Amino acid sequence: MAKFKFDIKCIFSQPVVQISSNLLPHTFIGDRRMAMDVTSKVSQIIDRLGELSAVAQKLSKPITSAQKLRMSENQTVYLMADINGCDGDVVIGLLKIGTKNLYLFDSSGQTRKIDKARCILDFYIHESRQRMGVGKILFDIMLTEEHWTPVKCSVDRPSEKLIQFLKKYYGLEKIIPQANKFVLYEGFFDEDEDDDVNRG
Ligand code: ACO
Repeated sequence: MAKFKFDIKCIFSQPVVQISSNLLPHTFIGDRRMAMDVTSKVSQIIDRLGELSAVAQKLSKPITSAQKLRMSENQTVYLMADINGCDGDVVIGLLKIGTKNLYLFDSSGQTRKIDKARCILDFYIHESRQRMGVGKILFDIMLTEEHWTPVKCSVDRPSEKLIQFLKKYYGLEKIIPQANKFVLYEGFFDEDEDDDVNRG
């Protein structure tokens, strides 16, 4: 797990916090001086977890960094910590999601332009905590907060572990082939009452 020299409790008033382009936890309350301090600590956490995720996925460089998040209006990083656990206060996971305008093939091979397609961009649970159900907890919190359903998510270059994860918990198996790096599943284009995928 990722330990830091500073006290992470000022960021994690709860186990999972959402960070957007201002690099502050959604729970943050404080003055300007406190905001600067917290932003600097959040940046260090995101950079470290982004690097660990890249290593785990054998990528040449991280997909997630504080600098990239600062420049991205449509992205949110969910960070998960274990506070007062057997290892002390540690950060154990990261999930980056966002929306993108994408050209995608539907099941019949027709090209569709989807505005604000929901995307899973980066997902990492520390090696010491994998396969214990932690990823499922974090993913489910994200789904609840964003009001997303798994089948309506496009997944950016999923690893084999994530493919297995999505199959196991959400029954996602049948892929709609794409020309780009995103993976979509059968049902992505189906319309239902609270669906806005097809409306953009
Ligand atoms: N091999 C195969 N399947 C795995 C593995 C593995 N080593 N690890 C997790 N899974 C899948 C399986 O379905 C597993 O169920 P099982 O143990 O019954 O086979 C299930 O995930 C376990 O669920 P959780 O414990 O809730 O998941 P976890 O906490 O391990 O988080 C995650 C899943 C995020 C994929 C984690 O394994 C991880 O960080 N892996 C390394 C980085 C990575 O591959 N991230 C996804 C990159 S792609 C992207 O982000 C768009």
